This record gives sequence, C-alpha cells and structure tokens, in this order.
Amino acid sequence: MQHTQTLSAESLIALEEKYGAHNYHPLPVVLERGEGVHVWDVEGKRYFDFLSAYSAVNQGHCHPRIVKALTDQAQKLTLTSRAFYNSRLGEFEKYIHDIFGYDKVLMMNSGAEAVETALKLCRKWAYEKKGIPEDRAKIIFASHNFHGRTLAIISASTDPMSRNGFGPYISGFEVVPYNDIQALQDLVLEDPFLAGFIVEPIQGEAGVVVPDMSYLKAASQLCKDANILFIADEIQTGLARTGKMLCVDHAGIRPDMVILGKALSGGTMPVSAVLADDRVMLCIKPGEHGSTYGGNPLACAVAQESLQVILDEKLAENAEEMGEIFREGLHSLVTETEIVKEVRGKGLLNAIVINCEETSDLAWNICVKLMENGLLAKPTHGNKIRFAPPLVITEEQIYESIAIIRKSILTFT
Ligand SMILES: Cc1ncc(COP(=O)(O)O)c(C=O)c1O
Repeated sequence: MQHTQTLSAESLIALEEKYGAHNYHPLPVVLERGEGVHVWDVEGKRYFDFLSAYSAVNQGHCHPRIVKALTDQAQKLTLTSRAFYNSRLGEFEKYIHDIFGYDKVLMMNSGAEAVETALKLCRKWAYEKKGIPEDRAKIIFASHNFHGRTLAIISASTDPMSRNGFGPYISGFEVVPYNDIQALQDLVLEDPFLAGFIVEPIQGEAGVVVPDMSYLKAASQLCKDANILFIADEIQTGLARTGKMLCVDHAGIRPDMVILGKALSGGTMPVSAVLADDRVMLCIKPGEHGSTYGGNPLACAVAQESLQVILDEKLAENAEEMGEIFREGLHSLVTETEIVKEVRGKGLLNAIVINCEETSDLAWNICVKLMENGLLAKPTHGNKIRFAPPLVITEEQIYESIAIIRKSILTFT
C-alpha cells in the first residue's frame, strides 16, 4: 500500500492539540492504516491493536467483506431519511430479528443515542403499559456504569469525570451498587414507580468488572417478578466479544431490551440498534422518536455484513478460546511480580489491574512501553489496562502479544 502521509507524527499531534477540543488524552501514536489485528503508524511501524476502538473492530480492521458491502452500497444509495422506505432497511430488520429473536429493532447511530432510545422507550412503556403516573417513572442504573456521554446518561453516572460540571441533571434515575442483588431487591421492594433496570453485563469502562453470572440471572428474574424492564447495554460486551454472541447468553437470560452498537458496523461507521418485542417497541408511535441517519441503507448494508462475518468466521468461539489462552498466559505475572494485582475478563474482553493508586501514572507508563514494543492498549480508570484485540486474532498472535506484554511489564520490576 502507498505511504502517502507527508506530515510527521509530531506535526500531526500538534495540529490536533491546537485545533481540536481536548476531550481525549491519546497515546502519542498517529495511525494511518489497519488490517486485521494490526495497525500501522505514519512512520510505517506496525502494532497489535489491543483496544479495537473500544470493541468496535471485533471483525478486524478494514475487513474486506465489510469494506465491500460499504463501498458497493455507497455507490448505490446512502441516505433517504425515514421519510421514505428504503430497499435495505426491511431486509436488515428481518435479518437481525432472525439472529436475536426480538420482534423489532430501532436503528440509531452512536451507542449513546441507542441508550437514550432505550431509556425513552422504557419511560413510554411505563406510562402506557405499567400505569406509572405521568412523569414519575424511574430507571435504575448500576454504580460505576458507563453508557455514553449525553446529558441524560451522565445524570446517572457515578464517575465525577463524566458528570461533574455538566449540571443541572436529569431526574428519574436511581443508582444501586453493581453486582449486589440485595441492593436491587431492597429498592424494588420499596419503590412502586420503577420502570427499568439498565446494566452492562460486564462493565468495560469501569475496568472490565465481571459480575457473577448468577447476579445477572437473579436481577433478570427480580425485574420480571416486579414488572420492571431489564435492559442490557451490550454495546461493548455484545457481538462475540466475550465468547458468546451476547454477554447475557453466559447467564442464560433474555433481556426485555438489548442495546447494540460499536461492532455492529465492524468499525466502519456509527451504527447502533435497540432490540425489543412489540409490547415495548410499539409504545413509540410515528413522529415520537427518530434520527435523520438512523436506519440508513448504507448502515443496514454494513451492519448485515458485519453480523454475517461474526457468524461465518465463528468469532464468538474464537474469542472464547483465545481469551482462555490469553488470561492463562498473563496469570503468572500476578505471582512473578508485585506490579500486576489481577488478571480478569471473559472471552477477549480482559484487563489487568496494576498494583498502584488510580491516580498513579504507572499504568500509563506501562502503556507507553507496550506501544514502544508494538502493542497498543490504554489505561481505564487509572490503574486498569484493558486488553481487547480484534476477535480474528490467531493463537500464534496471542502468544506473540503475551510475550510483548510480559516483556513490557517486567521492565518495571
Ligand atoms: C457499554 C457502553 N455503552 C454505551 C457506550 C457509548 O457508545 P458511543 O461512544 O458510541 O456513544 C459505550 C462506549 O464506550 C459503552 O461501552
């Protein structure tokens, strides 16, 4: 492939610093190409991508089938708005129904928009079906949640970085400790105006916090008994990342709503979706909710191919197998060094917890060392480093990555 970049990495970073908002703190690497599990910087250096754009690139960078679906459809029809029918939406809606078994889908773009959609649907259902008095419905969130950056969503956040300074906040949300069934049960028993419980089956941004699968099962049953909608935010955990098509499959439960995003387009464009049955989905009537780009034919073509790639290439099975090898390979670091406190995760959504304060820069420095050694990962919540490579990773590449991680960490001992 032709190397067309003319500006140096330093000048490109300087441009972002000067002309872009400072809402992220990226590692000092400037990427220009990706293929499968690898990305290349502007100087041509190759890295393993162990972030996968926060699990949006499950199918690997620039998957040829997804790129073909994108470019074929881009030359035909990209956007009609929902003022008209389009030739791809209905076919895709049936396709995603056949895979996940929900009556209907509502397509949006970003993950946060899909979460907002689920919250609105939940409130509408509470008033129309559950009979909660107008404007009294409450939705339960878990502590340390991450569901996106909109005002409604950050109103339920317990992370000061996400929340502080953006008030006044939106009301109607309750927060219970994560992975604590008793706390959820106590709240459910005392409050008759609860409409829904939204939860990440594994908390990715919080540092890959894996709850007991029995907690998810019990929470789902509790919600069923109390007529509260159980809403699974599978934006990061879904689409094969944890070794099953949905992470809730590990718990053997069927949520009332499932929210998908990220890998729904294999990293090519923002595509998100809310899945629900008619009793919930039909609470929203024409004109009550929408998005100019939601359900556009380009997104539908890309999403259909992205899902089919996951199935054809058995990415859930690969994530399960490679995840086992990966955690096993890193485990010895816990006993060998003082630096790694814990290795945790499911499938290929994993993290190591570094033995330091959340405010320490040790995890950042380890990520810089990993970068120098050819592997990209990012700290999350200070002292955790998430490892989430594309799910197409091979056994040989997993062993190569383990060697890079071990070597990098051992330089700090
Ligand atoms: C669980 C979860 N929900 C929602 C979101 C928000 O998605 P987006 O950044 O596409 O708005 C994220 C993003 O990291 C996420 O991990």
